[in-house]
Amino acid sequence: MLISILLYKLYAIKRKCLRSFIRWAVCKIEGGELYSVTLRRIFKDYHEVEVGMYSHGGCFQLYYFDRLTTIGRYCSIARSARAINHNHSMDYMSAHALFFNPVFKLCSKSLVEFIPLKIGNDVWIGENALIMPHVTEIADGAIVAAGAVVHKNVTPYAVVVGNPARIVRYRFSREVIDELLASRWWKKDIEEIKPYIEDFQQPYEKLYYDRKQTGAKQEKIEERECSEQ
Ligand SMILES: CC(C)(COP(=O)(O)OP(=O)(O)OC[C@H]1O[C@@H](n2cnc3c(N)ncnc32)[C@H](O)[C@@H]1OP(=O)(O)O)[C@@H](O)C(=O)NCCC(=O)NCCS
Repeated sequence: MLISILLYKLYAIKRKCLRSFIRWAVCKIEGGELYSVTLRRIFKDYHEVEVGMYSHGGCFQLYYFDRLTTIGRYCSIARSARAINHNHSMDYMSAHALFFNPVFKLCSKSLVEFIPLKIGNDVWIGENALIMPHVTEIADGAIVAAGAVVHKNVTPYAVVVGNPARIVRYRFSREVIDELLASRWWKKDIEEIKPYIEDFQQPYEKLYYDRKQTGAKQEKIEERECSEQ
């Protein structure tokens, strides 16, 4: 849409009020955070934060997720959650940002190293969770509890809580996790998912094993019918 392209271009003007209006406006025009393509382009091109479709929440709070963060699709991120991808220099004479951040106009180029962080698909991050600089991956399907302070990478479908964050359990059995990871269902757009939305609205582990059992029974019946013929 022409208006979205125009707003995207106007965003180059570094005025806080204008930028915040533009972020609000593109959301309004394009059906909200879950669906706005222009909001994603703005975050990617102007703030170096890449957010996949249908992900929403804190990832669109400016500067709550640092530069070089990539977030997958269908993630739910609480508005007070944060990811910090950098430290102040601890081995310089001073740890003050004045000496390494050009914002303060003393140095011309940033001396801060940003560590890329990849957040997978279908990740849920609770209120006040903090993801610390050395974390490089929160994998697909993981859950980060409210208030967790994450210092290490999180494996697929793990639920982590506390400070330092520890795994309290996995969302599903190993077999179901492998099936979900292989299915990569999050690649599908919501329109493609709608026909089997009920799969997403009940405990998945039970559904998976019930279907497996039904499939095995059906196979046995077919085998018997074949041998009788
Ligand atoms: C992570 C979470 C989903 C776990 O829920 P759950 O599986 O029902 O967890 P349980 O109550 O069975 O707790 C399991 C263990 O984790 C601990 N735990 C759970 N949530 C915790 C948290 N936020 N911080 C610290 N410990 C936590 C429990 O004390 C328990 O520990 P124990 O086994 O040593 O007794 C939930 O606690 C949470 O933090 N939700 C986020 C809520 C939120 O921020 N919502 C915003 C909407 S985007």
